[in-house]
Amino acid sequence: MVQVSPVHGTRRDRLLSQLVDRAAVIPAAALVTHHADVEYPFRQDSDFWYLTGFDEPDAVALFLSHREQERFVLFVSPRNPAAEVWTGFRWGCEGAVEQFGADVAHPIAELESRLDEYLDGASAVLFRVGRHPGVEPLVLKALARQLDRAPRSGQAPLALQDPSALLHGMRQIKDPIELDRLREAARISAAAHELARARTRPGMSERQVQALMEQSFLEAGARGPAYGSIVAGGDNACVLHYTSNADVLRDGDLLLIDAGCSLSDYYNGDITRTFPINGRFTSEQRLLYELVLASQLAALAAVRPGTTADAVHETALRVLVEGLLDLGLLLGSADAVIETGAYRHLYMHRTGHWLGLDVHDVGAYRLGDHPVTLEPGMVLTVEPGLYVSDRLPVPDGQPEIDPRWQGIGIRIEDDAAVTESGSEVLSAAALKLPDAMER
Ligand code: GLY
Ligand code: MN
Ligand code: MN
Repeated sequence: MVQVSPVHGTRRDRLLSQLVDRAAVIPAAALVTHHADVEYPFRQDSDFWYLTGFDEPDAVALFLSHREQERFVLFVSPRNPAAEVWTGFRWGCEGAVEQFGADVAHPIAELESRLDEYLDGASAVLFRVGRHPGVEPLVLKALARQLDRAPRSGQAPLALQDPSALLHGMRQIKDPIELDRLREAARISAAAHELARARTRPGMSERQVQALMEQSFLEAGARGPAYGSIVAGGDNACVLHYTSNADVLRDGDLLLIDAGCSLSDYYNGDITRTFPINGRFTSEQRLLYELVLASQLAALAAVRPGTTADAVHETALRVLVEGLLDLGLLLGSADAVIETGAYRHLYMHRTGHWLGLDVHDVGAYRLGDHPVTLEPGMVLTVEPGLYVSDRLPVPDGQPEIDPRWQGIGIRIEDDAAVTESGSEVLSAAALKLPDAMER
């Protein structure tokens, strides 16, 4: 059972101090139907988790900075032995107070009747619209009641505001405990990649390799995969979100594995490695592998405070484009190819994303016209790739691709934390030098 650490309380204090007379309503995730009456394993909402460490559905947290007392209120499922026989232990209202630090807790069924009173006196309500269909009507109803009373009460929360800028700004800068958890997620994920590469042989199925990866995650104590593991042999690697993992691994092909674990407290790893299934690169595979690696190393070296994720992407892209020009897979000048996007049939995604409680973590990449500047505590993936397939047309003026390159898909992805002086590669334990990919 997950025990909360004081870190959630520290975050709540920070949030409350920045709310300044406003209230925030942060719902837990709902259970999601898989089929019929079967549900997916529960996955907590990351904002709710970040502030509470409470891992149950059917819960709502209120943060009430306009009040002297009862500033952190939880609505939860009350204890119910008959229900718990079916769905397991729940903390109930007492647990919400004693274990999770709520000033007061109520049964979730009372949210509708109590919300109005709790919002009374707030200057605005922070609530993310469009995400929580069960809770949204109750928030709007409580707000409407306040507005109805405003002529006589003399005040009402006049605005419904989005909490993302505040909350996701906090989540974007990881505290030391979060960095430790991301290190642990990367460590477990990297160990699984090392194991999978050592065990992969021609004739195995992609699914067998997926099983090796995910068994390794689970044995290390993780919750499971952070996202649908991508185990893509040969040309399947050119499908960016390939997750069917149903093919047989062929002698002479590469295998791309994009997989990472999610820890019990939801911190994630996100690592991609690509290696030859039979243990030996062909010369074409090695040339492209070395190019993607050069691009990835240059991009990782560019991660430091004061630069931007855009600049990291541009670094990776320039190395890729120059290498593709040298290999004759592109024609023209690097500047012109980059300017016109004439490389996009070979490299069609950005070079990374924020990483944290969400795999594609929250936090702005751009504020107005300005790309967000990297700061210590930010964590991002660096994941350039090349995908040589006939799925996309070759742009006008660019060369048709010689069949010897076809079906090569390569991505190399690491997780990097921005430090005071540069970056820490959290996933460095997953090897990537070309010779280490061979056996
Ligand atoms: N695994 C998803 C990604 O790399 O973004
Ligand atoms: Mn990624
Ligand atoms: Mn990935």
